[in-house]
Amino acid sequence: MPNTCSRRREDRSHSLIPRVRAGLGGSHTVVTSIPLDALRPAMDAAAFAQQLTPVEDLHLYFHIAFCEHICGFCHYAKTHAGISDEGDETKSYMHALTAEIASRRALMEASQVRSLYVGGGTPTVLPPQALAQFLSTVSGLRRSASAPFCVEASPLTLAAPDGREKLQILKALGVTRVSLGVQSFSRALLERHRGHGPELLHDVFAKLDDAGLEVNIDLMQDLPGQTADDLRTDLSWIADLRPSQVTWYILRFDRGSSWDKLRRVRGLPGVATGSQSIARRLQLFDAMDRLGYAAHGGGRFLREACHSDRFKAVRNGLDSTLLGFGVSAYSHGWGHAFRNIHETSARSAARAYVARIERGDDPIETRHVLTDADRIAAHRLVAIRTRLPQACVAGVDPESHRIRTLLAVLADGGIVTLDDGDWRLTRYGRALEEEVASLFYAPDIRKALADAGDYWPANQPGPWRELLALSDREVRDAQVA
Ligand SMILES: C[S@@+](CC[C@H](N)C(=O)[O-])C[C@H]1O[C@@H](n2cnc3c(N)ncnc32)[C@H](O)[C@@H]1O
Ligand code: SF4
Repeated sequence: MPNTCSRRREDRSHSLIPRVRAGLGGSHTVVTSIPLDALRPAMDAAAFAQQLTPVEDLHLYFHIAFCEHICGFCHYAKTHAGISDEGDETKSYMHALTAEIASRRALMEASQVRSLYVGGGTPTVLPPQALAQFLSTVSGLRRSASAPFCVEASPLTLAAPDGREKLQILKALGVTRVSLGVQSFSRALLERHRGHGPELLHDVFAKLDDAGLEVNIDLMQDLPGQTADDLRTDLSWIADLRPSQVTWYILRFDRGSSWDKLRRVRGLPGVATGSQSIARRLQLFDAMDRLGYAAHGGGRFLREACHSDRFKAVRNGLDSTLLGFGVSAYSHGWGHAFRNIHETSARSAARAYVARIERGDDPIETRHVLTDADRIAAHRLVAIRTRLPQACVAGVDPESHRIRTLLAVLADGGIVTLDDGDWRLTRYGRALEEEVASLFYAPDIRKALADAGDYWPANQPGPWRELLALSDREVRDAQVA
């Protein structure tokens, strides 16, 4: 129980930064340093693709755009496919994806590939043969011996009769980790949002155990109708299963998800209010701590200090090079952030991607030229999740003054604190980590998001508007100078 003084402080912080339910620049989490919604159409994709030359530190992402169950909250590019049912649409998509990989093979062969991630969608919805064929293409890419290799999966696909065979395929082809989208262990929530009950999870975890694969489980906080009892149920499953990593997301309504459309028309009842959400987050931190899990940035809880999440680190920063394949896949490197063709309607996006590849066109659709300001902002954004050294604040860029003022406001609200000379999030600030992180975007990115109506502080009462105006002024002054 917080004492009265810290409770008063938390009340003040809550009025300072709200829980933001809208997507944060195109994602439910501030997952990329250049937010997806800030990328702009790239007219010369083919010429740009020629600039992708070999690099020392390359990370690869492959997007499988199919799921056996379409969740209303989800904004990822995916369309329905039956489990192990390879229809024409799946076949032509996988064919196009393989062709895109072939088109960049020389680049990958001459680079040092340091991690592989197959996500989606739900890769394990593919029939065993198609899964094996695709994973052997990926696994055949030359990569460093220690490169981690992760594949996303859903409980329904692993519980199916051929689930064990699929896990054997993963293991045989060098996959090191499965990221399982569980979302909740509560019967009511699973039946309502995921189309199955909790019973099959025993079978799924037994299969994963037999396969000897490292496991991350994705859970969601604030699903409509989720109660404190539901969260207790989640915690008791975690205590029994003890996966090496749990990623606990907070529900956000990204543009394009069916729930976002629904809530704009008639609201979506049963979603926790901002203060309930923050209180639950704090309870989850305590409970996970008691279970021996350390909280890391991005909603991750790691069971052992030796585990790290290389995949998340690559996506969050701009230091390494990430190359994405498939519809909507995001990349950064070669002086740019860029993304393959993406549309809000997942089915037409997947078709448009296939049509582009079949025409022999490059699938890159939007991009952003990285500036020094973006790189500095990316460093700060990564650092605020761990520790933000004073040196990072006292930079030479025109943003430094805004960042110092921002940190003073956040410190006053009990959201950050100075610790041994570094700024770090307080326990309370950690509950608002994503909202805080999004304040650290570079000026041109904030402007692009505000123009798209996608940047929460731009229309928020409180000090934020003033702070934004402050940095606009600073940037203008620097340009004049
Ligand atoms: C690409 S999905 C992959 C998981 C896998 N397809 C599954 O659901 O079984 C990654 C994760 O993002 C989270 N997620 C999706 N939409 C979300 C939203 N609107 N708000 C918060 N988290 C979300 C879910 O926890 C999901 O497991
Ligand atoms: S959460 Fe996972 S299973 Fe659900 S629609 Fe999104 S990608 Fe598919």
